[in-house]
Amino acid sequence: MIIMIAAVAENNALGKNNELVWHLPNDFKRFKALTTNHYIIMGRKTFESFPKPLPNRTHVIITRQKDYNPEGCIVVDSIEKAIAVCPENEDSYVIGGGEIYNLALPYADIIEITKVHHTFEADAFFPKISKSEWLLVEAETNIKDEKHLYDYTYETYIRK
Ligand SMILES: NC(=O)c1ccc[n+]([C@@H]2O[C@H](COP(=O)([O-])OP(=O)(O)OC[C@H]3O[C@@H](n4cnc5c(N)ncnc54)[C@H](OP(=O)(O)O)[C@@H]3O)[C@@H](O)[C@H]2O)c1
Repeated sequence: MIIMIAAVAENNALGKNNELVWHLPNDFKRFKALTTNHYIIMGRKTFESFPKPLPNRTHVIITRQKDYNPEGCIVVDSIEKAIAVCPENEDSYVIGGGEIYNLALPYADIIEITKVHHTFEADAFFPKISKSEWLLVEAETNIKDEKHLYDYTYETYIRK
């Protein structure tokens, strides 16, 4: 299955200047637990937002650049090719950013959103999720604490 995973603010903000605009350690842990040992599909900008590739995951990077070839990564020039290189009958994760979530939405089976209950200035945004196409099947809210400045809810959507 193709699963999109994202942390999304109330105004659909994802990040600014190629960085996240919040720090939620529990969300990082959940992201790691879900994506480890899987293929992860991402845009070139999201890949470059990491200090180094994420361990124990196969990186599939989407770019229009012909000569882009970071070591140990699969590079493709479309979302269709990205999905095609992922193993069938396994979960593969689309991890962003805004441009790639838009391209991947028609192909996604599940969306895992961490809704961050705040609005942020941003230059990358998650696409609008149509309630007529997507069903919310799980929601677990976590209240802010000394390590998490905002309340946040883990939401799981499946395609209707
Ligand atoms: N909150 C979250 O969960 C989350 C998750 C991921 C990222 N982010 C944030 O999102 C931001 C990055 O998102 P973004 O939208 O700016 O960039 P992005 O989606 O990560 O990457 C965009 C790049 O993908 C390539 N691309 C896009 N459409 C393409 C197409 N049709 N065919 C081939 N290649 C294509 C292009 O690469 P080239 O320019 O190389 O051709 C383009 O510049 C950052 O702020 C990051 O921190 C947030």
